Amino acid sequence: MLLDIPLVLGRRTDGQVFAMRDSCPHRGIPLSHGWFDGNRLTCRYHGWEFEPCSGQCAHIPSLTTHDRLDATRIYATAFPCEERDGHAWVFIPSPGRGRVTLAAQVPELAKFGSRYRTAHLSADLPCNVDHGIIGLMDPAHGPFVHQAWWWRTRGSIREKTKRFEPIPEGFRMSAHAPSANSAPYKLLGVYGQPVETTIDFVLPNRRTETIRCGDKWFSSLTTVTPVTSFTCRIDVIAAWNVFYWLPLVTPIAKFFGAKFVRQDQVTMIQQAEGLRHNPSLMLIDDADKPAKWYFALKQARLEAAAGGAPPPHPMDGPVELHWRS
Ligand code: FES
Ligand SMILES: [Fe+2]
Repeated sequence: MLLDIPLVLGRRTDGQVFAMRDSCPHRGIPLSHGWFDGNRLTCRYHGWEFEPCSGQCAHIPSLTTHDRLDATRIYATAFPCEERDGHAWVFIPSPGRGRVTLAAQVPELAKFGSRYRTAHLSADLPCNVDHGIIGLMDPAHGPFVHQAWWWRTRGSIREKTKRFEPIPEGFRMSAHAPSANSAPYKLLGVYGQPVETTIDFVLPNRRTETIRCGDKWFSSLTTVTPVTSFTCRIDVIAAWNVFYWLPLVTPIAKFFGAKFVRQDQVTMIQQAEGLRHNPSLMLIDDADKPAKWYFALKQARLEAAAGGAPPPHPMDGPVELHWRS
């Protein structure tokens, strides 16, 4: 399910991934109930066969020589779909754009060498995509949601100053030395080199973080996917060459990463209890400034898509934000 659209995904024998609307154009039964032989997807109701990447119908078993219907003129809905870093990226065009053949540029996780380890994590969130996204770049929840002996304690809260700069369709927390009060960053101190981290947010839903320490690096791409109007999913893909030779480093990283994501998930499940009653909410400076930029950037994109002149970027240059976390 993506943007309230049920999808059926698969991979052809030649390796190409596909994403079709999970609905037969004949009578609407989900195509996922049918059969897939690696090249054609067959509907289980009347056996229509479809080429899954184009959605083109290839065969209608009930047709006879008396019929003049050309099956190949019928299309099931298929969306452009590309695989990157183990994720299938599906491009959903705006309604009314007809068949789209060009996939939007598919984001890729930054890597800085050929030897690295990777991990994936995901968690379903019971809130709409906006709450998922602003939760993702909310600096003030750390000491409360993510307190743990291995990450940080509530007592470690302190004043921070971070520089932000505008980037196309997003903003960047400029390269800086990461918080000295977080244990994982302290670990990187063992390399004895200065540690520098850069965090970007780019519409519609992507946060990337790059940590570099000499020739050691850690890179992550976090996305919040709108599943339905009321639910979303957070996915994290990470790659690193830090502690590359340490045995069990991947399961250990996954264990702590999953705990971290789970802390956000639990908080958002609790938040959803409150949001059910439609409370009025607020965003404060400076800690919620990134959330304000997100809403302004999104509004600008929607206005540009509606044909208006794109409003200016909500940031007119680099700024410093201050908060305690
Ligand atoms: S409903 Fe799919 S072939 Fe008839
Ligand atoms: Fe968090």
